[in-house]
Amino acid sequence: MIVAPSILSLDYGNTKEQMQVLEESNAEFIHFDVMDGHFVPNLSFGPDILKAYKKNMSKVMDVHLMVDDPKFMADIFIDAGADYITFHSEAVHEIANQVALIDHIHERGSKAGISIKPDTCVANILPVLSKVDLVLVMSVYPGFGGQSFIESSLDKIKELRKIIDDNHYDCLIEVDGGINLETGRMCTEAGVDILVAGSYTFKGDIKERVDTLWNLK
Ligand code: DX5
Ligand code: ZN
Repeated sequence: MIVAPSILSLDYGNTKEQMQVLEESNAEFIHFDVMDGHFVPNLSFGPDILKAYKKNMSKVMDVHLMVDDPKFMADIFIDAGADYITFHSEAVHEIANQVALIDHIHERGSKAGISIKPDTCVANILPVLSKVDLVLVMSVYPGFGGQSFIESSLDKIKELRKIIDDNHYDCLIEVDGGINLETGRMCTEAGVDILVAGSYTFKGDIKERVDTLWNLK
């Protein structure tokens, strides 16, 4: 299982030490929750934080844009070293504009992902599924770490797994919000490829917590 610790829950008083532990862990991705205070009622961090991780780590930098203007932010975070840029379908309303942004991210040399909030159906993103490298299913309402997993997300993961497999799309399924060993196992059984985990990773022994998810098959 690909594990993506969300650094939203990092202990910022011990950034350097925790960065080192993450680097030595079995986490393949590092997940960056970018919030603008408008798309979600919270603010997180800008590109300099990503630059610092990129400089010190060899992991895949996975940027989740929870912002009103993902086109503007995409370039800023690609310049800072993002490997994946995921934007919300709810922030880019027209399919043509979603396609244009996906193409733009690809032209800039990054991988592109699209995300759906808990109240958005899989059907809404079907038109772009063949074009993205990743689909992110939000299993909590975006904005804050430490919320409880919304179980209806499992049906979305199963639905996406079937569509992606039936059509041979080259697209990873990522789930984000309320992931721990129990919900991580349920998502694994539903067919997910990447588990994002914030609180679960950082509110315990980081390496051990990553390993429990990494070992899920
Ligand atoms: C929520 C973020 C998540 C969050 C997950 O808006 O997108 O990535 O950090 O945190 P936990 O794992 O604590 O639910
Ligand atoms: Zn996220």
